[in-house]
Amino acid sequence: MPSALSLQCHCVLIFLAALRGETRYLEVRGAGEDEPFLLLSADLKRELAERQLYQRALRCIDMLSVEGQFTFTAEQPQLHCATFFIADPEELISIDYDFVNIDCQGGDFLKVFDGWILKGEKFPSSLDHPLPTSERYIDFCESGNIQRSIRSSQNVAMIFFRIHEPGNGFTFTIKKISNLFPCNVISQTPTGSFTMVIPHQHRNCSFSIIYPVVIKISDLILGHLNSFHLKKPSTGCAGMGDFVELLGGTGLDPSKMFPLADLCQSFHGSAQMKIGCDNTVLRMVSSGKHINRVSFEYHQLDQYELENRKENSIEEFCFPSI
Ligand SMILES: *[C@@H]1O[C@H](CO)[C@@H](O)[C@H](O)[C@H]1NC(C)=O
Repeated sequence: MPSALSLQCHCVLIFLAALRGETRYLEVRGAGEDEPFLLLSADLKRELAERQLYQRALRCIDMLSVEGQFTFTAEQPQLHCATFFIADPEELISIDYDFVNIDCQGGDFLKVFDGWILKGEKFPSSLDHPLPTSERYIDFCESGNIQRSIRSSQNVAMIFFRIHEPGNGFTFTIKKISNLFPCNVISQTPTGSFTMVIPHQHRNCSFSIIYPVVIKISDLILGHLNSFHLKKPSTGCAGMGDFVELLGGTGLDPSKMFPLADLCQSFHGSAQMKIGCDNTVLRMVSSGKHINRVSFEYHQLDQYELENRKENSIEEFCFPSI
């Protein structure tokens, strides 16, 4: 029985697919316009390029993965709207309001959330986010400041809004900013690879994949390349300051997911796991004493692999229909 999250994730996927289509279209159009640019000065070219910002209207429920300028205009009272933003793992998102015309006194609102929320579950979890939960919401009606640029702490963010009066709306510009040490990430794709590095920081980072996957960890370095001197812990990784855990579950919040495996010894090689959950998270717990690093790749479990659940007890854990 597919859960509500997986249905929503499928919607998210459809949006992503649609967005990719648009991106391709833009690339093609851009290529055709290259030639006349050769005659222009660098400054002028830059100015023109900036003016060619991608623009489109926003739907009440929408998903954005490209930079550009987006406008929402209510055609009727719109009471429950949200826009999800997602960038590459090594990017943050910046949101600038260009124009806002909403009736704060009349009950309208426009809020940015630093992360994603679905069905009350947050990513990053409140335990792993650098800010307290209340500071992750930025309410336009409270701050009232159109000048301020809002920057996410990870590659995902979202906007919630409610507008009663037809014709009212807002316009914002989305830019992506590069992030040298991504900590919390939601993968845009069901297949990929990633290296997470936590350099001497006392923080915990989660990489979330909103699909059932096979995940293969190829390298794990917790402080030392060579940790033969470490005693093998008898009860999981309890008491270890630095470790990696694999979590599985149906919601977005890593702190509400089931722990499936703990890894607290460095290794080179390959550890592979099938995780038949709607959502898979690799979370690194870091004491700040070491430079911790983990490399992994993942691909979506196909239907055959999902049905053919033998060898691995881990996948049974998440089997929704059993
Ligand atoms: C990281 O997670 C561990 C275990 O989940 C917890 O004990 C620790 O306090 C967390 N550290 C930070 C900085 O949140």
